[in-house]
Amino acid sequence: MLQDSFATRLVAWQEQHGRHDLPWQVSDPYRVWLSEIMLQQTQVTAVLGYYARFLQHFPDVASLAAASADEVLALWSGLGYYSRARNLHKAARMVMDEFGGRFPDLREDIQRLPGVGRSTAAAIAAFAFGRRETILDGNVKRVLTRCFGISGFPGEKAVENRLWTLAESLLPADAAQMTAYTQGLMDLGATVCGRKPACTVCPMVDGCVAARQGLTHVLPTPRPK
Ligand code: ADE
Repeated sequence: MLQDSFATRLVAWQEQHGRHDLPWQVSDPYRVWLSEIMLQQTQVTAVLGYYARFLQHFPDVASLAAASADEVLALWSGLGYYSRARNLHKAARMVMDEFGGRFPDLREDIQRLPGVGRSTAAAIAAFAFGRRETILDGNVKRVLTRCFGISGFPGEKAVENRLWTLAESLLPADAAQMTAYTQGLMDLGATVCGRKPACTVCPMVDGCVAARQGLTHVLPTPRPK
């Protein structure tokens, strides 16, 4: 895959074929953060109703910080992985107490919030603040290992480090493209480059190592037994 055409192709594809109607496609960092936490272990369709109801009760970080833990958990009830809700509540209080009520806008600061790892922090920084930070979740690992022909289990540290470096090198030069680019990475992994990839409609197919070498079924490399 040609490194310098990756972002250009992805942004063009996202604009034409990606998702544009998700309720968290906004610039309010609170709304972006809430969506990224809900979406960590849960499908979009399951999140939509919870997301709307949560925002009706807690429209901003101050109202969430002022709530009781029980109120927050009640609104999370049914979504699962309840440590997400407890961390969300703690993080809201941290934004109020340590960041003066303003959501942090640097990836490194966002990452200090409980429940927010490097990829989630990058998604928030990119979507809400247009920062040139890269996400690297399971979907993106699938896209990159195939496109660039990277073998080795991506859960292994050395492989993961290589993927972070590659992902950073692929970011668009223009920060104004970060929203479309980041959503494009998510959308390509979710809708085209899945377990059974739809290579005929993929914008990367002519540069993709796995498509060219018939390796889409063996990349990403599974966890060693
Ligand atoms: N999964 C994680 N973040 C997402 C987003 N912003 N849109 C769709 N699916 C996602």
